[in-house]
Amino acid sequence: MHIQYLDDTPDVVSLRSTSLYLRDFELADWPAVHHYAMDAEVTRFMAWGPNTAEQTLTFITHAVKNAHTTPRLSYDLAVIHAATHSLIGGAGLYIRQDRRFEAEIGYCLQKEVWGRGYGAEIARLLVRLGFDHLHLHRLIATCDPENIGSVRVLEKAGFQREGLMRSHLKTRSGWRNSYLYAIVVTDPRLMC
Ligand SMILES: CC(C)(COP(=O)(O)OP(=O)(O)OC[C@H]1O[C@@H](n2cnc3c(N)ncnc32)[C@H](O)[C@@H]1OP(=O)(O)O)[C@@H](O)C(=O)NCCC(=O)NCCS
Repeated sequence: MHIQYLDDTPDVVSLRSTSLYLRDFELADWPAVHHYAMDAEVTRFMAWGPNTAEQTLTFITHAVKNAHTTPRLSYDLAVIHAATHSLIGGAGLYIRQDRRFEAEIGYCLQKEVWGRGYGAEIARLLVRLGFDHLHLHRLIATCDPENIGSVRVLEKAGFQREGLMRSHLKTRSGWRNSYLYAIVVTDPRLMC
């Protein structure tokens, strides 16, 4: 199988939706990232958070470092509101070390912008990154069955539910089940 890795993240023109664009994180982003990463509601279904300032700085430092690793397997990207150029969240695409045709995606938005359709826009941009730019075969995502917003986001981006993984993720409320979602390159695409 041929997988073409990018030297750099695709430019913002190619990773832009109606309202948003994705770009690599910069160290200077950390206060904006910390704004959502320290929020207990935002991190409710995550294995991490709410973050201390030190934990957010560590995350940003790793994200910047990983962006310069060759081959690049980790895409931690800032979600930027196109009209204001403000950072409103984070998105991730992680190519699996042992199955380089497959990547896992994730996303997170600050609470103030929930419910505007941005989550679905991000998921569709990550599908474009995975299939059009990185030429991957399969993208997966996991989400808590109680995270209704995330379930809808994935389904609106064309992901299909493949099953329930029991006791899959340890969050601060204990071990949680996760739905497994996936989209294959040959599946119908729901574009933004
Ligand atoms: C999950 C998250 C990204 C959703 O983002 P969003 O921008 O609010 O989602 P959208 O506006 O694109 O909504 C998509 C759909 O989900 C629905 N939805 C969103 N949040 C919902 C909620 N809490 N309860 C019920 N439905 C919800 C919307 O109504 C919309 O449905 P529709 O298109 O049928 O009208 C956002 O809530 C978030 O960042 N949460 C914290 C981090 C997180 O949980 N990330 C996912 C980990 S798997």
